[in-house]
Amino acid sequence: MNVIHVSAECYPIAKVGGLGDVVGSLPKYQFEAGVNTKVVMPFYDNKFTATHKFQNVYESNLILGKEIYPFKILKTKKDVLDIEVLFVDIPDLLFKDFVYSEDDTARFTAFQIAVMDWILTLKDKPTIIHCHDHHTGLIPFMAQECLKYKSINTIPVILTIHNAQYQGWFSHDKVHYIPAFDISHIGLLDWDGVINPLAAGIKCSWRVTTVSPSYMEELQESANGLESLLSHENEKCIGILNGIDSKVWNPETDEFIVKKYSSKNFQTGKKANKKWLCKEFGFSVSKPLFAFIGRLVYEKGADLLPGVLNKVLSKKDCSILILGSGNPQVESELASLTKIHKGVYNTFIGYDERLSHLIYAGADFLLMPSRVEPCGLNQLYSLRYGTIPVVRSIGGLKDTVKDMEEDGFGFNHQKATEKDIINTLKRAIPFYKDQPAFKKTRKHIMGIDHSWKVSAQQYIDLYNSLKIG
Ligand code: ADP
Ligand code: GLC
Repeated sequence: MNVIHVSAECYPIAKVGGLGDVVGSLPKYQFEAGVNTKVVMPFYDNKFTATHKFQNVYESNLILGKEIYPFKILKTKKDVLDIEVLFVDIPDLLFKDFVYSEDDTARFTAFQIAVMDWILTLKDKPTIIHCHDHHTGLIPFMAQECLKYKSINTIPVILTIHNAQYQGWFSHDKVHYIPAFDISHIGLLDWDGVINPLAAGIKCSWRVTTVSPSYMEELQESANGLESLLSHENEKCIGILNGIDSKVWNPETDEFIVKKYSSKNFQTGKKANKKWLCKEFGFSVSKPLFAFIGRLVYEKGADLLPGVLNKVLSKKDCSILILGSGNPQVESELASLTKIHKGVYNTFIGYDERLSHLIYAGADFLLMPSRVEPCGLNQLYSLRYGTIPVVRSIGGLKDTVKDMEEDGFGFNHQKATEKDIINTLKRAIPFYKDQPAFKKTRKHIMGIDHSWKVSAQQYIDLYNSLKIG
């Protein structure tokens, strides 16, 4: 079976969030399970492309509306992910020092046309095309409807929704970007009067998956306008929980952290990493350290953090560290609070992969007060690194973190409100003082297996159920 994953992100090549982590790991695990997987992604102007050598595997021109763009399909000389990664090089559109921008319609539509044009030329056609998020949501439509791709319209196309908040909307003025199709089928592209690539992907793909079972259920009620569509397409939808790359996220081998550790010697390991963080950010090692890592956006509940900090930190019985970037107002509020709560609060506004590993390793608790969380990987990394998750029970957080009071190992709250978060912190702080119970829980969570093994197989079973011939 040959599977092509099409995505805008893939770690370690280009990552903005969890999509990059998933596409950088799921295909590897599928490959280990015997599936011939490949990833196709844009060729960006970044550190990875500047430091690797590429060879040309295909070259042509694509038509986007009235424009013609030369493009190439490139491949690294040596495989970097243990699987083949192919790059779509459209110099004028994709080769930028960012992944996403304000208006990506031309960029990602051209990307998808290039992918389809190239697949059309392959002798060995994929058995399955697996698309990820709205940036690839037009592929299911193009595969089914565009005259030019008629000969490959029997290849099953799957769409995984990592986040339904973002849908890639664009105006009907740009419909001519899409290769010719029977115009009476234009309704397949439309949702509420605009072209909606995510909606088109949901309508036209053979199966729709989301990244946790609970998120799949929640989408029927709350999907940024697509609720009725998802209810209507319910039959072809399935929630498959994300896994983690347990080779990349492994405290025993992690090169980013100051002291490596396993579940056998985690006490000394966690202590050394916490000491480093406390020195770096001006905290006392004796207080419980709570951390937040993530995009500073409404979905993640980031706007609730300043209020929580102000109320919780007045007692000075814990420290809080925040790593993130996003909404400029939240960024500046969080930055300005460092002066007021010096010694118990600090922040790093920006993106820093190494620091994120150090925080998973050195913190005592990880905060995730998300309003929406399709899966969430941070809580899975924190479990692996023995850091106790404090989460809102929603989406993938609900599926992966069980509260202490229910014989579990984390702290859950029902609502994304300051009050609920503060009440939960008030349960977590005393738990830190009960060191025997705290250590026992740490040891337990480090042993929970969230690797891709099970979920990668669920995807393979899904592919097999669709395979033709
Ligand atoms: P999302 O994809 O919605 O942002 P996930 O929990 O699925 O959320 O994944 C977030 C990923 O991005 C994790 O690997 C996390 O460690 C990483 N991450 C988020 N913000 C930062 C940051 N500022 N610096 C480093 N890593 C970050
Ligand atoms: C999205 C979601 C996040 C999920 C990630 C990977 O960005 O917001 O919850 O973990 O995709 O699937």
